[in-house]
Amino acid sequence: MSTPQTWHYGLIAKWWAEFNYNFRPHEIPYFQRYVERGQPALDVACGTGRLLMPYFRAGLDVDGCDVSADMVELCRQKAAGEGLSPTLLVQPMHELDAPRSYRTIFVCGAFGLGSNREQDEEALRRLYDHLEPGGTLLLDIEVPYADSRQWRHWPRQERAALPEARTPPRERRPASDGTELALKSRLVELDPLAQRVTLEMHAEQWRDGVLEAEEDRLLDIVLYFANEVLLMLDRAGFTDVTVEGDHNDRPATNDDDFLVFVARK
Ligand SMILES: C[S@@+](CC[C@H](N)C(=O)[O-])C[C@H]1O[C@@H](n2cnc3c(N)ncnc32)[C@H](O)[C@@H]1O
Repeated sequence: MSTPQTWHYGLIAKWWAEFNYNFRPHEIPYFQRYVERGQPALDVACGTGRLLMPYFRAGLDVDGCDVSADMVELCRQKAAGEGLSPTLLVQPMHELDAPRSYRTIFVCGAFGLGSNREQDEEALRRLYDHLEPGGTLLLDIEVPYADSRQWRHWPRQERAALPEARTPPRERRPASDGTELALKSRLVELDPLAQRVTLEMHAEQWRDGVLEAEEDRLLDIVLYFANEVLLMLDRAGFTDVTVEGDHNDRPATNDDDFLVFVARK
């Protein structure tokens, strides 16, 4: 199986650590309620610790894993800054091999990222194996029709316009080390048969008005619809699966851009 193609390294990892701590804040208490009821817990694709850090501060027993050593290192630094030394593993989810099993496993903003279907099926088997009997898996997806910029490229005539042209980032944001960071993404390829999209991110780092670093990185995403994920969870052995809306404890509706699958072992 190949290495996941994700863009969460270098300047993009730095951007996550600097600016994404307050991204989609309603997700934090949503997963926290499940973690409080079922510990220990595992944050799969924990990134720089947007969810983990508040959970550590609340004294919850949570480990993290992520494919990106850069994201994990920034999470480790944040934790160390608060006197914490959590268990953080650098592993893609389809190679998950954690030293203990969990009452709760959650995957936020990462299923289908950098991977392929075969890897995602293997990831679900590994998540199942790492759950204690009776344990809960929470896994979210952004539905393919949520992003109108992508969705309009599904028909053949629209795909002919890909890849999108490169355009410069609109704004630079000041980081804590005196640099400024800027990002700009573009859609490179969309394959509706394979349900795959490839995006490219251009990242820049500026200091005192001078461009001192720039990077271009790719992200492959497998696009899933709700019924496919339900079938995949069933094949992996999960039971009692429910589909909730955008981290809101309510049954999913067709207005939800994000869905959360809540499944039991
Ligand atoms: C959108 S970020 C979300 C991070 C974190 N879950 C959060 O909500 O703040 C996606 C994360 O998934 C990680 N990732 C992408 N593909 C992965 C894979 N196949 N296995 C494990 N982690 C992966 C990336 O490195 C990145 O940290």
